[in-house]
Amino acid sequence: MTILITGAAGFIGSNFVYHMLRAHSDLRLVALDKLTYAGNLDNFSALTDSERARFRVAKGDINDRPLVERLFGEENFTAVVNFAAETHVDRSIHEPEIFLTTNILGTHGLLRVCKDRWLAHGTWEEGRRFVQVSTDEVYGSLGPEGFFSETTPLDPHSPYSASKAAADMMVKAYHDTYGMPVLTTRCSNNYGPYQFPEKLIPLMIINALAHRELPVYGDGRQVRDWIHVDDHCRAIEMVLSGGTPGSVYNIGGGNERENVFIVGKLIDILSGMTGDAAICADLIRNVEDRPGHDRRYAIDAGKIESELGWKPEVRFEEGLERTIRWYLDNRAWTEKVISGEYTEFYEKNYKNR
Ligand code: NAD
Ligand code: DAU
Repeated sequence: MTILITGAAGFIGSNFVYHMLRAHSDLRLVALDKLTYAGNLDNFSALTDSERARFRVAKGDINDRPLVERLFGEENFTAVVNFAAETHVDRSIHEPEIFLTTNILGTHGLLRVCKDRWLAHGTWEEGRRFVQVSTDEVYGSLGPEGFFSETTPLDPHSPYSASKAAADMMVKAYHDTYGMPVLTTRCSNNYGPYQFPEKLIPLMIINALAHRELPVYGDGRQVRDWIHVDDHCRAIEMVLSGGTPGSVYNIGGGNERENVFIVGKLIDILSGMTGDAAICADLIRNVEDRPGHDRRYAIDAGKIESELGWKPEVRFEEGLERTIRWYLDNRAWTEKVISGEYTEFYEKNYKNR
């Protein structure tokens, strides 16, 4: 069986590649990735030779229709898992256009090629599946009570979440119109190895290690439901193999934490691991809030738990310690990804806050 993994060189995509190649010794994966600032082939450096033999990388854009068609001609894909996206909310506030191009048009381009290849004379080829990796951010923001379920109305607030919601609607349209066997996952905030240091947890880790300030947006009391990337990858695998076509599955870690709690916890663990007394609360700076900032996300994962038997397995404190250890042990990776374009983004996002 061969699966096309788009956006495979990013944070969750690369963790998914490791997970799938290790879990299924007969599986072949083809990665299609544009290698934007967030995509990095170094993320695959820990693959073994035998894993590498079942893994092909194609550099390219999901919007490049001839390239996607060529890959479908060369390979017999039974499934597509679409991770490819522009993913950072702050970048979407500065430069929304690329979010529309990649997240909406790119997703549609993939759906279109799948339909052209997998639908013959009104019948879909047996066993084909398209998994759209979406986000809980499409539901908008919660007050202090309640959870997002799969039937919560979509109410996105940022250009990023609006583009993901639009893509979800197109995926739904391909199911409702053409009967395409699609599945959509909506997960909460991931953390773990290989996450680009523009996102809260790795940004705070690398800033703290360099004794740079830790920029907390607004009052820092916003709540996110944190999940270890390994738990997300297992959930996607289960949806891919056992989910009901046309369905949406929410995925969450059951770890609701305020941002200030996360930053405090990172300081405690990092200062303990390094013995560096300069890593302390003095580094925290409350900066101007993110415009349209969602206050709280919380997931009701009851559907995937009862239908597919999935449950998160990584305890938050243990997962956080493992993640911090990974960043301490992989400083060369971080140095490389924050050279160049990162500095420009950092200036733009943080200088005048
Ligand atoms: P990421 O930013 O780390 O990686 C995105 C990857 O997509 C990169 O490798 C990039 O090069 C690639 N890419 C971007 N544009 C492309 C294009 N036009 N064609 C081909 N490849 C392209 O993102 P991530 O955090 O790994 O997120 C992966 C997916 O999961 C996204 O769809 C995101 O919306 C979703 N998601 C993320 C989280 C999270 O907490 N990180 C939570 C829920 C859902
Ligand atoms: O919920 C899933 C989503 O989680 C994914 O769809 C997105 O791709 C992913 O980026 C993430 O979105 P968030 O906006 O929640 O993640 P981020 O790490 O950017 O921010 C987490 C919280 O921390 C949020 O409330 C904003 C705050 N924050 C973030 C940064 C980068 C700060 O206070 N300071 C910062 O410097």
